Amino acid sequence: MRRAERMSSEDVRTRAEKIWRASLRLDELIETIMSYTRASAGGMLLNPTEFNPESLIRRACKEQSNHDPERPFTIDIQKLPEIIIGDPILLEQALVIVLSNAIKYSDSDTPISVRARPSREGVMVVVKDEGIGVSERDLPFLMQPFFRGHNAKEITGTGLGLSLAWHIIMLHGGSLHIASKEGHGTTVTLTIPEKNVTGASGVL
Ligand SMILES: Nc1ncnc2c1ncn2[C@@H]1O[C@H](COP(=O)(O)OP(=O)(O)OP(=O)(O)O)[C@@H](O)[C@H]1O
Ligand SMILES: [Mg+2]
Repeated sequence: MRRAERMSSEDVRTRAEKIWRASLRLDELIETIMSYTRASAGGMLLNPTEFNPESLIRRACKEQSNHDPERPFTIDIQKLPEIIIGDPILLEQALVIVLSNAIKYSDSDTPISVRARPSREGVMVVVKDEGIGVSERDLPFLMQPFFRGHNAKEITGTGLGLSLAWHIIMLHGGSLHIASKEGHGTTVTLTIPEKNVTGASGVL
């Protein structure tokens, strides 16, 4: 602000944009920490409603691929139930966490695929990337809060995303499974039951 008069308007704009982006990141960080704290304190309440799972998946994918428009991104959704019961806001948050990891931990010219199918309990969503992957040593710890893989340290992150996604899926009585090979890529499988909303009372 002090030097603004001596700077070109282009310079001022570039710096303002940097500040704006940093504040967005900070906002995201606060939101993640708040959500995680709420969930781990047992205070996350589900607000179950009926929703269309295909629209939710498409919305989350669109939002994420907008952040990375050049990325080869394939979506294959077949035969999902028209309506399932769950908390669509939290489930979208869980899917966004997984999708944003796929984007963050892979090169921007490598493909990401999202496949959704009906499963025995409800809906199964598989998110696959061809990124840095996770070492066998780190794999068991990914859903612990603040855990970060040894090969991810140079990429920014808090280590809270997956633990939050895990809480959300557990509250729905679903499952979250990660298969990965370091240097080759990662496949995350989420299952969401059609109706069993175990966490509707907020008890973990
Ligand atoms: N798709 C992926 N490919 C490679 N590593 C991954 C992937 N998803 C998660 N990881 C590993 O799991 C760790 C935990 O992921 P998590 O989403 O919980 O936290 P984060 O991405 O580090 O930070 P943030 O809280 O910002 O999401 C990451 O630090 C990374 O090591
Ligand atoms: Mg993450």
